[in-house]
Amino acid sequence: MSFDEYDEYINPPPAEVEFDRVLDRALSRRDFLNSSMSGIMCYGAGAFVMSTLALRSADASPGDSQSKPIEFTPVAANSLDTVTVPQGYHWHVVASWGDPLWSEGAAFDQQTRGTGESQRLAIGDNIDGMEIFFKDGRTVVAVNNEYANLAILHGDRVSGLPENEHDFDKNKAAHGISIFEIQQHDGFWEVVKDSPYNRRITVDEPIEITGPARGHDLMKTRSEQHGVLTLGTWNNCGTGRTPWGTFLSCEENFNRYFSSDDEQASLSPEYQRYGISPDDSGYGWGEYDERFKTNLEPNEPNRAGYVVELDPLEPDSLPKKRTALGRFKHENAELVIAQNGKAVVYMGDDERGEFLYRFVSAGMYRETADNANLLDTGDLFAAKFNDDGSGEWLALTPQNTGMTLAEISIFTRIAASKVGATTMDRPEWVAANPLKAEAYCCLTNNKHRGIKPNKGGDSTPVGGPNPRKKNHYGQIVRWIPDAGQHDAVGFSWDLFVLAGNPRVHKHNDNAGSENISADNIFNSPDGLHFDSRGGLWIQTDGNYSNKGRYEGMGNNQMLLGNTVTGEIKRFLVGPKEAEITGAAWSEDRRTLFVGVQHPGEESGSSFPDGEGMVPRSSIIAIGADDGSEMG
Ligand code: FEO
Ligand code: CA
Ligand code: CA
Ligand code: CA
Repeated sequence: MSFDEYDEYINPPPAEVEFDRVLDRALSRRDFLNSSMSGIMCYGAGAFVMSTLALRSADASPGDSQSKPIEFTPVAANSLDTVTVPQGYHWHVVASWGDPLWSEGAAFDQQTRGTGESQRLAIGDNIDGMEIFFKDGRTVVAVNNEYANLAILHGDRVSGLPENEHDFDKNKAAHGISIFEIQQHDGFWEVVKDSPYNRRITVDEPIEITGPARGHDLMKTRSEQHGVLTLGTWNNCGTGRTPWGTFLSCEENFNRYFSSDDEQASLSPEYQRYGISPDDSGYGWGEYDERFKTNLEPNEPNRAGYVVELDPLEPDSLPKKRTALGRFKHENAELVIAQNGKAVVYMGDDERGEFLYRFVSAGMYRETADNANLLDTGDLFAAKFNDDGSGEWLALTPQNTGMTLAEISIFTRIAASKVGATTMDRPEWVAANPLKAEAYCCLTNNKHRGIKPNKGGDSTPVGGPNPRKKNHYGQIVRWIPDAGQHDAVGFSWDLFVLAGNPRVHKHNDNAGSENISADNIFNSPDGLHFDSRGGLWIQTDGNYSNKGRYEGMGNNQMLLGNTVTGEIKRFLVGPKEAEITGAAWSEDRRTLFVGVQHPGEESGSSFPDGEGMVPRSSIIAIGADDGSEMG
């Protein structure tokens, strides 16, 4: 069961009785859209799909002419248990879950799948967001290890679950962040064991709490009564980086790790909104560490769900949870410096019907100044998208939410509901174009669109950037901030692509937008990354059955989008049952590193080690045969 399905199972959205009214409203609005825009609605939702030309001509920016994505011959979809890249390109595995980072660590054990000790000295499970840092010719990877594939990690147990304290120890150590140096030898990238930069950050790592929630009563626990220092980070999903050289790691489905001995306890609205349930989800952390028992430590969940900032080139530095960036199921954190020097961080909250956010720093970034605490003070906003292609950022302030700054930081979802932000189709990664002022966000899918409210009871009407009822395929929304200023209140938006399947659906919304054909179909866009040439790399985390509405899509994949022409070409197909997530480039940009997450999550893969071997999440390196840059 996926994280979302599990959340819904344990904590269903509010009853639909109340929702009838909401659905009526949504339908009447859709009728309005359909009648007022007939003619350009041949694909139904197409009103704002690839209205690129309109947006572009109104905003002829020098960035457009500089955009030159790399050229290649697209690969066909497939369901093979390997990585497929275009002709003229090659790939190899750099590192996999369980590979030791220090020479005292044991090599990955196919039988036991490691111990707590070996796992603490090795790369964690489920490679996700990844950033690469350079210093004096050295290359340091910082990568999130989102969660553990229980049945694989604990494949030495019949239950496929942690069964004792040692298993719990291994399970915890498979989570968090892995930082390690890599270097290239004879064309192959490999881990530099014992590098002074190598570091594992897992569930017991001391992390400072900074920003508005620091020291608040809601952040205090029995074992840490000041609310300033917490232990660990887990379910780290997407990433970001700052121009001052730090790594941003985003805590996403943090809620699943808590449980309670009091199964009958009535859940507070705050617990419900964040999916904190009495039921253990299989991780069993509460059984072995009482800080994960919410009847004993009710505030512990308030200390998770943030963006963690750390300096990967200072291995002894204390990571910080930046509460000013809000608490929700953080996907990634895309930081841009606005023209006036303010740091603007775009962030998605990946749950059905949750919101898209923006933080704007109070201070200015200065290359020569100390920017270390720039992310502690500023304003948080949630996005409102209007059906006419305009939008605005709604400030989350004490005045318009009735909440204190600390409460806004801790219960950000509730604040955003109060201001009437737009409920979205699961916002995943945001990527900002380095060549011009615009940003893109993957809205991965939402089978509840137009059917059910979000967990806070907010309606999810069909419309705006979420134009399809029961959205199975996903779309990518983009916005241009007013006057090209990322800190502006207003923006204009359109959909860069509406994914769909023209092989299965003819002439309706589910066929997808015009830049989707039988040759580049995909579902559930998730990872999103701009390269230095303005190419937009799209990674998928979707249905890989290759059947029914997903027929012809094959395994999860990575595609390259041209944001000027709208063209989208498939560059890579992943192995069976894997998600493709995380991308970063070498200093010379001749290598593109990509993450392969959860191959064989349904036990149908042996990637990358081959027949009969345990599947392992891995980082691969991709290069062009002629040595040209990868973007
Ligand atoms: Fe961890 Fe929303 O992906
Ligand atoms: Ca993701
Ligand atoms: Ca996803
Ligand atoms: Ca994932």
